Amino acid sequence: MQELRIIGGRSLRGSVQISGAKNAALPALAACLLTNQTTTLSNMPDVKDVGSMCALLEALGARISRVNDSISVDTSNVDRHNAPHELVRKMRASVLVMGPLLARFGMAEVALPGGCTIGNRPIDLHIAAMKKLGADATLIKGDTHLTASTLKGARIYFDRPTVTGTENVMMAATAADGETLLENAAREPEVVDLAELLVKMGANISGAGTDTIRVIGGQLMKGATHEIISDRIEAGTYAVSAAMTGGIVTLTHMNPRMISSLLEKMRSAGCKVVETDTTVTISGLPPFKPVDISTAEYPGFPTDLQAQFMAMMCLADGEAVITENIFEDRFKHVPELNRLGAEIVIRGRSAFVRGVKNLLGAIVTASDLRASASLVLAGLAAQDETRILRIYHLDRGYYRMEKKLSALGADIGRIDGEGP
Ligand code: EPZ
Repeated sequence: MQELRIIGGRSLRGSVQISGAKNAALPALAACLLTNQTTTLSNMPDVKDVGSMCALLEALGARISRVNDSISVDTSNVDRHNAPHELVRKMRASVLVMGPLLARFGMAEVALPGGCTIGNRPIDLHIAAMKKLGADATLIKGDTHLTASTLKGARIYFDRPTVTGTENVMMAATAADGETLLENAAREPEVVDLAELLVKMGANISGAGTDTIRVIGGQLMKGATHEIISDRIEAGTYAVSAAMTGGIVTLTHMNPRMISSLLEKMRSAGCKVVETDTTVTISGLPPFKPVDISTAEYPGFPTDLQAQFMAMMCLADGEAVITENIFEDRFKHVPELNRLGAEIVIRGRSAFVRGVKNLLGAIVTASDLRASASLVLAGLAAQDETRILRIYHLDRGYYRMEKKLSALGADIGRIDGEGP
């Protein structure tokens, strides 16, 4: 099993190019199923989850070709409509094929995603919305079988904003007769990016980025070419790496406004943040001022940056309270950070982080994608050597993180450790 080894204490300096967003790439790939023509997506990150989604599309009959950061998807031969459990279990975002399959073929079989390390991951809101559009849904041996002879526009209110739920229903609604209104919709930039792709494919969509999205269905969906947006979570991760190591790093090919909530919190913690339209230069030096955060739907503080900011607050001069409101179990990184010398106590949905002067290298284990990133950040700041096991979690959403960090001066390497 591969692991990362880090010798901490090196200040990061230089610039890092931010890759395309994993969470924009996944719905964009699923959207290719809406047409029988070829769609080409560029700025696609070479990360495991994108590979998994490509594998799922190929299992449905699509032909995929990749040239550098562009992926072309030919869906003319798609003739299967099921997302099997082994793929959905591996990657919950596989549920994103539900809406496109229903739209194009009138049927979709999607395994209910099991839980994962950040909590129960239901798709009840997705299914309820598909039923509102006229689909019948039955659960057969853990798979949801959806069928619809026709889809009819409807007014859909989400009990709570759901990112992939909004994306799934927006895609299904492109084939629904008449107008569909999505209310209490997710406002994430990745939702906006998907809507822009769907409009290029022929859809009539307005309001993406607000909590009310209108879709006028029935247009024939064509192939398109589209460059996906940069990864705001990757950008936020490298921003924290600069501050935690007492360095100065410029993030390029990104949009600072997509991480305003993080940048404001970093300024409050004492970091210097200089923005242009497409770059951010971050510098900082521990100890930081303790800053509380409470995760929320966009444009609030992103849950996907909670673990990374917690790592930073481990080096604050006082106590910070980190409250996680989106997922019920997204603190798996806490015991691992405590192994590195942090002093964090969890009470309900909040983690109380009492800053320490130094973190000390140790062997730690990654548990999920963003928790892994927080352990890397802590290892970069810790004294001596940190070894991070099970880094396949990290590879799901970060392309060769150790290469980008080495280029910034970190002493980090990937090695084959013990065990399968
Ligand atoms: C998306 O997941 C992202 N994944 C997640 O990123 C991100 O953490 C999450 O949005 C929140 O921002 C992708 O975009 C591929 P939700 P998603 O539906 O859509 C509950 C990463 O690290 N809910 O917005 O699955 C749900 O349990 C990943 O890149 C229901 O109850 O999240 C959660 O508590 C992790 N029923 C809340 O809503 C539903 O039908 C928000 O979930 C759907 C969701």
